[in-house]
Amino acid sequence: MRTYTNVKDLGDLNLAVKEALEIKKNRYAYKHLGENKTLLMVFFNSSLRTRLSTQKAGMNLGMNTIVLDINQGAWKLETERGVIMDGDKTEHILEAIPVMGSYCDLIGVRAFAQFENKEYDYNETILNQFIQYSGKPVFSMEAATGHPLQAFADLITIEEYKKTNRPKVVLTWAPHPKALPQAVPNSFADFMNEANVDFVITHPEGYELDPKFVRGAKVEYDQDKALAGADFVYAKNWAAYTDPNYGKILSKDRSWTISSEKMALTNDAYFMHCLPVRRNMIVTDDVIESPRSIVIPEAANREISAQTVIKRMLESL
Ligand code: CP
Repeated sequence: MRTYTNVKDLGDLNLAVKEALEIKKNRYAYKHLGENKTLLMVFFNSSLRTRLSTQKAGMNLGMNTIVLDINQGAWKLETERGVIMDGDKTEHILEAIPVMGSYCDLIGVRAFAQFENKEYDYNETILNQFIQYSGKPVFSMEAATGHPLQAFADLITIEEYKKTNRPKVVLTWAPHPKALPQAVPNSFADFMNEANVDFVITHPEGYELDPKFVRGAKVEYDQDKALAGADFVYAKNWAAYTDPNYGKILSKDRSWTISSEKMALTNDAYFMHCLPVRRNMIVTDDVIESPRSIVIPEAANREISAQTVIKRMLESL
């Protein structure tokens, strides 16, 4: 595997989940693969789970790991070609990337959508520059349009908790005070559309996601209807995708918050969220603290999804 940016990079999804669950049973079985190999993790944005779980995954595989926070200690990077660099940006990303590539064997990149230019974001400009210029296998640790390590961990979690062969999984928009990218819901849809689940997306009008990710999924604008009979409720906020509102907040309607009343509409569903989560905006305290909340095991599976991806990349070196 040379790149990991979306569900297709995993090939057969059932096999990938099976491999992940095998790794989970003995996460140190492949320690030899990473011996004398270095994983570089480059963060343009903050992280708790991705940073810790990916570093741990690399260590489980015997790798050395280096973490670079671009905005804390590194030179400020210019990311657009053709700019006259007479401002505060000291180094161009086109030199920085191959330099970074020269110090490592694999690179993970976190670079969120900036909401300044939809084309720049949806072309995955920063991630693709790493793929093009680093000379090393590159995986997304959440880029502008996708968070495939999160979605893979979500699918592993659903596989572990499902009670029926084809569970109903509902992705629901929920309110948030800040404008958040569409990366998590995009990748979640990308994975659920390939998985054996009855997948429904619900959100207020105006929050339609990119059709490239929604594909054939059912979109239900009435949240209560969507939640009826759900086995898994996956809550997430995102800002508007469609023009002319790209990156804007259109609603903070707290009637969309996942509460115990909303969960009562479901088939005793499990509650999921990628974290970090804003309590009593996205989900009420009682729901996230309930026995049906699986946000902690979901986050723990980030180590397993990352380890499966890194293992495959090491095997292809
Ligand atoms: N879910 C997730 O990616 O968490 P972090 O932003 O803390 O890495």
